[in-house]
Amino acid sequence: MRPKLVIGNWKMNGNRADNAALLAGIAAGLGAHAAACAVCVPAPYLQQCEETLAGSRIAWGAQDVSMHDCGAYTGEVCARMVADFGGRYVIVGHSERRAYHGESSELVANKVLAVLEQRMVPIVCVGETLEQREAGQTVQVVGAQLDAVLDALDPQVLPGLVLAYEPVWAIGTGRNATPDMAQQVHAQLRARLAARNPAAAAVVPVLYGGSMKPDNAFDLLAQPDIDGGLIGGAALKAPDFLAIIAAAD
Ligand code: G3P
Repeated sequence: MRPKLVIGNWKMNGNRADNAALLAGIAAGLGAHAAACAVCVPAPYLQQCEETLAGSRIAWGAQDVSMHDCGAYTGEVCARMVADFGGRYVIVGHSERRAYHGESSELVANKVLAVLEQRMVPIVCVGETLEQREAGQTVQVVGAQLDAVLDALDPQVLPGLVLAYEPVWAIGTGRNATPDMAQQVHAQLRARLAARNPAAAAVVPVLYGGSMKPDNAFDLLAQPDIDGGLIGGAALKAPDFLAIIAAAD
């Protein structure tokens, strides 16, 4: 049994006061829940996480990094900086980055390398659009997105990844993939990983993201290949985030 992992993706939300209340609420309610948890926050709030969460069970990280190391790249944040603030995770290849910033799978692969270089954990996001799903292309699309990353990596490092299946049509829409639909894709992603490194496939968490809420989390998380959640909207309210963590028990 892989341990469950629940990660909040705050996206471009928050301010110091709201973050403090949210983090305090999560910390207060974590209790004996077994699932590991983390928050991926906007870069300006990494220091706040380091100060607030150091020594707690809540890990933290960023939502993106440059593929480059530090240098003349105005406006960018490099993986070394996230690591400098104690970050453990970096989301890479989120569909909002692919769609709004034109990120290719090759760029995503280079960002994964940059994150691993700093000994952090990349959360590699893949997912199909509604059109692609309706055209029966889901397996092909998410497979190609994953393969672009796997092709760039030494199979030995694959146990250091987290994967996230986030169907684009389910993100922020209130329309989640059914447990069966998600399980099928998760199993395919794991099989693809196993083709490169069977031991990695046994340990790498494959998270589901896309309108995961307290009322659907239990059924999704009960699937054998759904090892946790990457949560957007519901991660911004401590009671909802905690309810999802509880559903992972
Ligand atoms: O990365 C999390 C995500 O895209 C899902 O967002 O708001 O549908 O939970 P949401």
